[in-house]
Amino acid sequence: MSDGLENVVAAETVLSDVDGLAGRLVIRGLPLSALAGSVPYEAALALLWDGFFPELPGDLAPALGAARRDVFDQLAPHLDAAADQPVFDGMRSLVSRMEDGTGLDAALRLVAAPAVALASLLARRKGLAPSAPNPALGHSADILRMANGTVTEEQALGLDSYLVTVIDHGLNASTFAARVVASTQAGLGSSVLAALGALKGPLHGGAPGPVLDMLDAIGTPGNAASWIAAELTRGERLMGFGHRIYRVRDPRADALNAAIGRLRASGAVDAARMDLATTVETTALAALARHKPDRPLQTNVEFYTALLLEALGFPRDSFTAVFAAGRVGGWIAHSREQAASGRLIRPKSRYIGPVPREAA
Ligand code: ACO
Repeated sequence: MSDGLENVVAAETVLSDVDGLAGRLVIRGLPLSALAGSVPYEAALALLWDGFFPELPGDLAPALGAARRDVFDQLAPHLDAAADQPVFDGMRSLVSRMEDGTGLDAALRLVAAPAVALASLLARRKGLAPSAPNPALGHSADILRMANGTVTEEQALGLDSYLVTVIDHGLNASTFAARVVASTQAGLGSSVLAALGALKGPLHGGAPGPVLDMLDAIGTPGNAASWIAAELTRGERLMGFGHRIYRVRDPRADALNAAIGRLRASGAVDAARMDLATTVETTALAALARHKPDRPLQTNVEFYTALLLEALGFPRDSFTAVFAAGRVGGWIAHSREQAASGRLIRPKSRYIGPVPREAA
């Protein structure tokens, strides 16, 4: 029995490999550094899905654009009801309207749905008129345009870098949830909904919003050391640090930091915010090393996610939904891979409750 299934190998995959000691993430044979910042989300999706859909076109952009348009038409009548909920829950309720197929059309609609739902909900909150997707635009550019009314090339590149960076990451909690459901031969929609539930929690995809709450609470670089020490003394966890697999720096943090650097060069990043973040990161790493000398706790993907998504204009309560819009590509690939294995995932539990009198 392994608490939290730590170190348990529960699947074989050709999709991604997380080397927690070397700090390396490989996606279908390529290091993350060869993808993030270099290819659009559609290209990373085509790489990940290669071999899992017989009719996969080389360029997924037109088909994904058409799926965004179709999904928008389907979801538009339900936006009002979804807008009454927190963004992630509203997005999830809209995604639950997708059909439960297993083919490429169903898969593309499931990638389009979180993106269209998120962008439409954010636009509505800003009081913008609903804007139908433009299938001629790239996925990232269209999400930002629908959400904000406008988009620059640098912003689209920044969101592409983010969505590619988080597209897949081994057997994380949400991907495992997707694979468990896929192993029952339920459709892709059911797998994606299970994964969304797992992603929501602060120990998985819900951390980046609280990272900004932490920066706000610290306020100025001079307060970092005392604030962090007080949190650790109270037994609190510092959001954006620590990981089940990585014992060194999460390579995704560097990919996102590079994307922030490109945005910074175009003047889209608040320099004071970045200076504060740099001090907080350095101070937190030193404090965590003293606090848990036996457990290397390094910066994880969520720390830089928070800074990048804030610079792209996403409100902090939408960060987990943006994460879902990227990771959904990985959930679908894993679901196809698991379903193809044909093996139901069904581990055992050890009973530690009271035994009936006659058996005692
Ligand atoms: N701040 C302070 N202490 C920490 C932190 C942290 N961020 N992370 C772990 N620790 C401590 C734990 O309290 C624990 O101490 P204990 O042994 O005295 O109880 C010890 O380090 C080991 O922690 P575990 O919970 O066993 O580590 P696990 O592998 O389960 O945790 C996790 C990984 C959940 C990410 C954890 O590091 C954490 O809670 N981080 C903060 C939340 C966060 O950033 N989440 C995003 C993760 S990235 C992603 O999922 C996309």
